[in-house]
Amino acid sequence: MASQPKSPQSRYTADRLIPGAFEGETVTRRRFMTGTAHAAGAIAAASFVLPTLAFAIGPIFKETEHRWEVAGPQDLFNEYNYVPVDVTVTPGIGEIGRTTIYVRKHNDKIDTDKYDENTPYIAITSRCAHLGCSVRWVDAAKRFICPCHGGVYNLLGERVAGPPVRPLDRFFTRVNKEGLVEIGPRFSVNSELRRFSPRDPGEPIDGIGQYLYPSRPSVRI
Ligand code: FES
Repeated sequence: MASQPKSPQSRYTADRLIPGAFEGETVTRRRFMTGTAHAAGAIAAASFVLPTLAFAIGPIFKETEHRWEVAGPQDLFNEYNYVPVDVTVTPGIGEIGRTTIYVRKHNDKIDTDKYDENTPYIAITSRCAHLGCSVRWVDAAKRFICPCHGGVYNLLGERVAGPPVRPLDRFFTRVNKEGLVEIGPRFSVNSELRRFSPRDPGEPIDGIGQYLYPSRPSVRI
């Protein structure tokens, strides 16, 4: 007896002569179970992948609060030496969010770099660009010294020895209406002292480094 011709166009499994097909069925049970298993697997994977991604990436998009903080009167600072000043770098967490930075008056003879324009005072972080230890300004040597791994920076905060991958970060400065020096947001600099959005310690920004270690999009300089 000649077999009934197959009708591939039909959406019904019975019309396609699939063994065990029910009347009105459009999806085979095998395909239905496979799809169900895949969907369950995707949901299970998403339940731990999405929170992990959100935890890892979320801080990148967190808006950083920028504020200006008074460092002191202008005559507190001179052109040849740094004065340590305590400022808040992470608001809202009390004393833990405060750190020491080093401030001196802009010196036209020393600060000749074009990127120093409109910076009345030079404010340099005490956070080492290697792994973040606290550097100390040593006036006798005119150097910033990091005790952790021997990082050494010159008067401009440029690395002269040790493992740091870039110069010390800086802060914007201005003089307010009352004549007081104010410290603003932090920014990073490359070996030419060109400004970049703040980077973390250990992140070089010369050459390809600026692309390998991009800034957080929400951080403005
Ligand atoms: S943390 Fe400063 S040299 Fe390593």
